[in-house]
Amino acid sequence: MSQTPSEQKALFLVAKKGDWKVDVTPVLRPKAGEVLIRIEAAALSPFDWKVKDFGIVITEYPTILGCDSAGTVVEVGEGVTNVAVGDNGEFTVPRAIFQQYTLASADLVAKIPSNLTFDEAAAISGSAASVTIGLYAPKIPMGGAGLTPPWAQGGRNKYTGVPILVIGGASSIGQAVIQFAKLSGFSPIIATASPANNDLLKSLGATHVIDRSADLPSALSTLTSLPTALRYIFDAVGQPDTQSVAYGVLASGGTLITVGHVPIKNIMVEKEVVVLWGVFYIPTNRRFGVEVMSHLTELLENGDIKSNAVEVLPGGLSAILDGLDRLRKQNVSAKKLVVHPQETA
Ligand SMILES: NC(=O)c1ccc[n+]([C@@H]2O[C@H](COP(=O)([O-])OP(=O)(O)OC[C@H]3O[C@@H](n4cnc5c(N)ncnc54)[C@H](OP(=O)(O)O)[C@@H]3O)[C@@H](O)[C@H]2O)c1
Repeated sequence: MSQTPSEQKALFLVAKKGDWKVDVTPVLRPKAGEVLIRIEAAALSPFDWKVKDFGIVITEYPTILGCDSAGTVVEVGEGVTNVAVGDNGEFTVPRAIFQQYTLASADLVAKIPSNLTFDEAAAISGSAASVTIGLYAPKIPMGGAGLTPPWAQGGRNKYTGVPILVIGGASSIGQAVIQFAKLSGFSPIIATASPANNDLLKSLGATHVIDRSADLPSALSTLTSLPTALRYIFDAVGQPDTQSVAYGVLASGGTLITVGHVPIKNIMVEKEVVVLWGVFYIPTNRRFGVEVMSHLTELLENGDIKSNAVEVLPGGLSAILDGLDRLRKQNVSAKKLVVHPQETA
């Protein structure tokens, strides 16, 4: 007999651009290939407030948002072998982690190594997905830049001597880009950020940090160690201004990977733009996602990839509203906001 409760608390977005409401809802049971996870840490992402404010992506309401989380497997569906009841796992689902229990595909769950807390595991899960897709997923529509990942044969340090620019190096995405770029051997690794984050980004692998308020083309021209061609740029901010300045400094034949779904003006055929869909659950990324998750535990265990700093918001699911407001107002620097759904009153 299962120990799992039949009901739980969840934070609902009740209608398109509507209100939030914490309510009681059934706990669903895992089907074949799925696991049911008791969520211990749920991470907040800018995507969540954008869905609420702009009414994008979701077509059916009420809905439960949130993507990136960590917890303990409490039930497994038929045929699941990679994780078992009692395992601690981290995962990212398209939505539905602003609740106390959720379902995930077992093959898209990575076991949490003992050197990571639930909070850290939740914080890194979504960034790891977005960044690995952007850099290493195959070059197909809604895929990535097709680079060789560091876990593949010949992938470690494969891009030694190739420069990369990371716009928004202190963001959750940006911190993960810097770390994966280091594993891939990119050099120099140049990032833009507020000056207060210089030391942090250098500790992750950035060789140069440019003040985000500086004129980027001028600042780049003063870097004597920079080879003339910037062939790879990862825009982890994705605003029209960051995209266009990134596109402008990108070398002919280069690749801009961007998180922003904003059309770039004056696009040229000789420059490639990869617009990121940072989810493993879309059919084009699914197989790649299974590959990433099968390597993520080891990368975290070895310290090759570290989580960004975490701020835990007290109050469980109810704290998400204030947290999303801080993200909306850009009052969060270089850290992930996390809640503990089990604390919900
Ligand atoms: N397309 C997708 O599939 C996908 C997936 C995930 C995320 N995203 C998007 O990616 C973006 C980043 O997400 P996140 O979770 O990493 O955000 P985040 O951690 O909340 O980002 C906050 C950070 O962004 C930095 N920043 C903001 N504007 C900047 C600018 N103009 N120049 C340089 N740095 C800037 C700030 O750096 P400082 O503190 O140094 O000032 C701050 O630390 C969001 O817009 C999100 O919606 C898209």
